[in-house]
Amino acid sequence: MPQVTKEPSLEPLWGCLRALEEDDLPLLLKWRNSPSVIRFLDSYEPLSMYTHRRWFQQLHGDPTRAYFGIVAKDGGLAGVTWLKQIDWRVRKAEVGIYLGRCRGQGLGKEALKSLVSYAFQTLNLNKLWATVFSYNLASQRLFESLGFLKEGVLRQETYRDGRYHDVVRYGLLMEEASS
Ligand SMILES: CC(C)(COP(=O)(O)OP(=O)(O)OC[C@H]1O[C@@H](n2cnc3c(N)ncnc32)[C@H](O)[C@@H]1OP(=O)(O)O)[C@@H](O)C(=O)NCCC(=O)NCCS
Repeated sequence: MPQVTKEPSLEPLWGCLRALEEDDLPLLLKWRNSPSVIRFLDSYEPLSMYTHRRWFQQLHGDPTRAYFGIVAKDGGLAGVTWLKQIDWRVRKAEVGIYLGRCRGQGLGKEALKSLVSYAFQTLNLNKLWATVFSYNLASQRLFESLGFLKEGVLRQETYRDGRYHDVVRYGLLMEEASS
């Protein structure tokens, strides 16, 4: 009898990126609420499943946001990367990323590279930008390794763990991105 090969239903779309599914929500919520992720994101309050689900539902049909799951080598979900505040007139967007697992293995860079390529080559955006807390050295290194330039430092822009921190703003133009 011939072997039936089941198509993987969640095959990566662009490099290691794939669409987010409703089934991903519990894992995403766990990561999103963990200190090792929340420490580096703009929002600092723990999310409830209700708020999280509503966020997911509102993504559909929102032309200003695009979120993707990051797939690890073992085929499982490892994190999320996104474009938000997509401005279709100026053709720019804010970039974000987090990994809930598999850090320090090149996956963040691979994912961001795919997102950048999608933003410039598929969406035809002209500029990507990101803000990174001054104490987030891994993220600064990540953006710099993909050619993002430091455009400025916003002094005492955020407040975490009882004190103010600077925020570094990065930018990458379409003409600067390596294909
Ligand atoms: C930032 C993050 C996505 C990086 O992903 P990653 O898979 O761990 O990073 P990579 O292994 O792809 O490494 C990318 C670059 O950063 C460097 N790097 C990784 N971890 C680092 C660390 N802890 N300190 C300094 N540099 C680091 C790597 O050496 C590499 O640089 P190179 O290409 O010049 O060698 C991940 O650490 C993370 O999810 N952090 C928490 C959430 C977060 O900070 N999100 C960004 C908010 S702006």
